[in-house]
Amino acid sequence: MHIRELGTDDVAEIRSVFLGIFTGEPWNDCWEDPAQCHQYIVELTENRNSLSYGLYEGNRLIGISLGRVKHWYAGTEYWIDEFGILPQHQGRGAGTELLSMIAQRLKSRGIVGMVLLTEREMPACRFYIQNGFETREEQVFLVKML
Ligand SMILES: CC(C)(COP(=O)(O)OP(=O)(O)OC[C@H]1O[C@@H](n2cnc3c(N)ncnc32)[C@H](O)[C@@H]1OP(=O)(O)O)[C@@H](O)C(=O)NCCC(=O)NCCS
Repeated sequence: MHIRELGTDDVAEIRSVFLGIFTGEPWNDCWEDPAQCHQYIVELTENRNSLSYGLYEGNRLIGISLGRVKHWYAGTEYWIDEFGILPQHQGRGAGTELLSMIAQRLKSRGIVGMVLLTEREMPACRFYIQNGFETREEQVFLVKML
């Protein structure tokens, strides 16, 4: 397996993998409007600070990490908006490998940390903690629906 940085030329392939990961269990995300999904992937890959990686088995994209770089005062961080491995490739170390290969690349760019949100009760939470992430109990996630 190998990784490479993803960009604007990869939007269609990323969208297909993204939907393959998140429209099934356990997330069951409902992307009814293809244009909305396309726009979401475009904005994650085409901004000046976008930073996304793909995990490949041969020439097949099997995992994604879609995010952006933030130049925070305490050092530059990689904020991950979407991370996942296609269902048929889960549970055999691919996610762990993708995170580890990304971390190596980030370190060589001088990035000091990775930040993400997930749901406490989802299996992914355990995956991140096993891979060295820590929860920040002092912080709270706030939303106001309009
Ligand atoms: C979470 C995810 C990225 C982990 O990648 P993976 O390649 O399946 O994980 P690995 O094989 O490297 O590591 C397995 C560990 O992750 C955890 N895990 C999380 N989800 C899992 C799943 N669906 N299948 C197996 N293990 C899972 C387990 O704790 C497991 O540890 P264990 O073997 O000690 O029980 C992947 O399962 C996935 O894409 N899930 C759906 C999308 C998702 O939840 N993304 C994160 C949203 S923030």
